[in-house]
Amino acid sequence: MTDDGEMRLWGGRFEGGPAPELDRINRSLPLDWRLWPYELAVDRAWVGELVAAGLIDEGTRDRILAGLVAVEARLDSGDPGLEPDEDVHTLVERWLADEIGDEASQVRIGRSRNDVVATDTRLWTLDACGRIDSAVRELQAAMLSTAERGIDVPFPAYTHLQRAQPTTAAQWLLSHYWPLVRGRDRLRDARARIARLPLGAAAGTGSTIPVDRDRLALGLGFEGPCENSLDAVGSRDWAAEVLFAWTQLAGDLSRLAEDLVLYASAEFGLVRLADAYSTGSSLMPQKRNPDGAELARARGGTLLGLLAGYLASLKGLPTGYSKDLQEDKRTLFAAEDAVAETLAVLAGTIATLEFNADRAASSITPEMLAADVAELLAAEGVPFRSAHEAMGQLVQQAEAEGRDLSYFVGEKAGSVDPTLASIRPEWWDVAAALERRSVAGGSSPAAVRDQLEEARTRLDG
Ligand code: ARG
Repeated sequence: MTDDGEMRLWGGRFEGGPAPELDRINRSLPLDWRLWPYELAVDRAWVGELVAAGLIDEGTRDRILAGLVAVEARLDSGDPGLEPDEDVHTLVERWLADEIGDEASQVRIGRSRNDVVATDTRLWTLDACGRIDSAVRELQAAMLSTAERGIDVPFPAYTHLQRAQPTTAAQWLLSHYWPLVRGRDRLRDARARIARLPLGAAAGTGSTIPVDRDRLALGLGFEGPCENSLDAVGSRDWAAEVLFAWTQLAGDLSRLAEDLVLYASAEFGLVRLADAYSTGSSLMPQKRNPDGAELARARGGTLLGLLAGYLASLKGLPTGYSKDLQEDKRTLFAAEDAVAETLAVLAGTIATLEFNADRAASSITPEMLAADVAELLAAEGVPFRSAHEAMGQLVQQAEAEGRDLSYFVGEKAGSVDPTLASIRPEWWDVAAALERRSVAGGSSPAAVRDQLEEARTRLDG
């Protein structure tokens, strides 16, 4: 305890406590209280090693373990972030001391907050990746069931946001499914690099207590110990990698969100968001605003900023631990919150999404089949360059005459260019155009059914 009654894990060489301004910027408890479950796991594993190494006896260990049970109950029921301590490590030790007295400090023999916080944060990150994985899975499941409803719904596809060619509503929605498969893969891949144990590195040069780091690692759910103690306390590339994976995910989600915003507008009118996923206007009674999708769109930018800031804060740090690394919690926690909220709102939005089939069908205008017709001509032996040119002329002619392109069949088409005389009325049929896209991964209902099946098998691995 200090003279002012506050407990600090340091202070022996200091005259007084830190200036309030320093304390304010230095105190990490308002953020790092979220690490408490991992702090307790580390304490429990560590005291086992201290016994094995002969530093404490079993009686001390048992009193510490019993004390930690009480501390856990207290942490679980209160709001630890509001306590006055410098950080979660100090809070846990103070509360442990409340339970068992001075013996509480034995728990930190041979270790440092430097290796402990890196260990806690890696454990938190592993769990956070698991939470995000489940949330992505929820969204994917919603996509699959909504896509099921859209297999036979013709839908316009765009390039350059200009009407391009026909597809189906399911094909559109599933185009947002596969980036999520890759996103989950990316998070799984990162696991091997997160799951190395820093504990035992102590302040950075390695603990003087001969603990068994392999045993510690496996006991805490790691794959093995970090190979170098200085690297163990000073590196956060594994966190940056996860942050990138989340940022890419948020970027992919922002594209889905943008489609929802656009397609739900009166101008596109291709989908309708459920009331539960729309909001009103305080002024305009008629409004149904896609706020959830808009915020999901914005979060892509939020994550990008967090990632860029994080990478910048890591670059150029000297070897070993620096306090800069404390900021990683601010970034990681904010990032997980932002991505998790985005995933949740999009899952609900997609599960309840309605396709506006009539409007989608009428958005597929005949000129969106111009390329199909050119290809059909090519299949009949017309050189593709001539077919493409002639179809271009037909489009021009139709525009000049104010006619629908599908008016031009047989002789009417042949009068514009003789190579077009073989155009048959059924060549302008949208359903037939979709059937033709039966290539693997294509838009035909049969191909989309196959894709859905494949997508279902990828939902759980
Ligand atoms: N709150 C610190 C962090 O999050 C814990 C490590 C503090 N280490 C130190 N040497 N002051 O990084």
